[in-house]
Amino acid sequence: MHPMLNIAIRAARNAGSLIMRSLQHVDHLEVTTKGRNDYVSDVDRLVEEEIISVIKKAYPEHAIMAEESGKAGDSETVWIIDPLDGTTNFLHGFPQYCVSIAVKVRGRVEHACIYDPQRDELFTASRGDGAQLNDRRLRVTKRRELDGALIATGFPFKYPQYNEPYFNSLQALFPKVADIRRTGSAALDLAYVAAGRLDGYWEIGLQDWDMAAGLLLVEEAGGVVTNFAGTDKLFGKGNVIAAGFGIHSHMLATLQPHLSDTFN
Ligand code: IPD
Ligand code: CA
Ligand code: CA
Repeated sequence: MHPMLNIAIRAARNAGSLIMRSLQHVDHLEVTTKGRNDYVSDVDRLVEEEIISVIKKAYPEHAIMAEESGKAGDSETVWIIDPLDGTTNFLHGFPQYCVSIAVKVRGRVEHACIYDPQRDELFTASRGDGAQLNDRRLRVTKRRELDGALIATGFPFKYPQYNEPYFNSLQALFPKVADIRRTGSAALDLAYVAAGRLDGYWEIGLQDWDMAAGLLLVEEAGGVVTNFAGTDKLFGKGNVIAAGFGIHSHMLATLQPHLSDTFN
């Protein structure tokens, strides 16, 4: 295993323990809003500090891009951190959230780690080495048709101005598939596509820390990730379709007419 992935795993597991311990006093946490429907708690900040301290001990010269503390340092290696993806779920006691850590080297994500502390599920990938869940190798689903597919999505809960194009895209895809889930953790949605638990996923307006690790997991599990124009310009935009190779083109063809003008 690459030493950087090893450090990412150590940081994610420490973070997971902190998250599980803080569950006991979730009702008494101080919660503030960063924007419309965008919440942050002391747990997000504490967990992020722990992750950064583990990384800094091993790689003091590397740069950090973390959701709660922003960018720090200047290096060709950047650690992209979402300390708690699924904060709204966490605050409600809805058990679907995770820690997401990715390592970008010279502009390309090379290592990925997503940890679900509730289920003790560790999703990892290094570019060229495949993706794993704990010790099991992951593959996306082989489904070739939308018929029967289980798809996940994210609602534009922070951006009401996007409701119309987004819900048009949902309405277009919904009758063609078996069902659609909205789980509340983009990173786990991507990990589940990699694991073949979902056939595909789409969302608009993600941040780099929501998706950096998950995108590599999907690619290393044999899946396809693009924006709504079908190209790979994802970072800084966050408009994502991720799916098994057999249905990605069908999802793109269905969603593109509603989304590609606004979200590329
Ligand atoms: C959010 C979750 C959610 C997605 C949002 C993200 P956060 O991350 O991933 O599923 O729909 O776009 O912002 O705020 O819980 O870290
Ligand atoms: Ca997030
Ligand atoms: Ca977060």
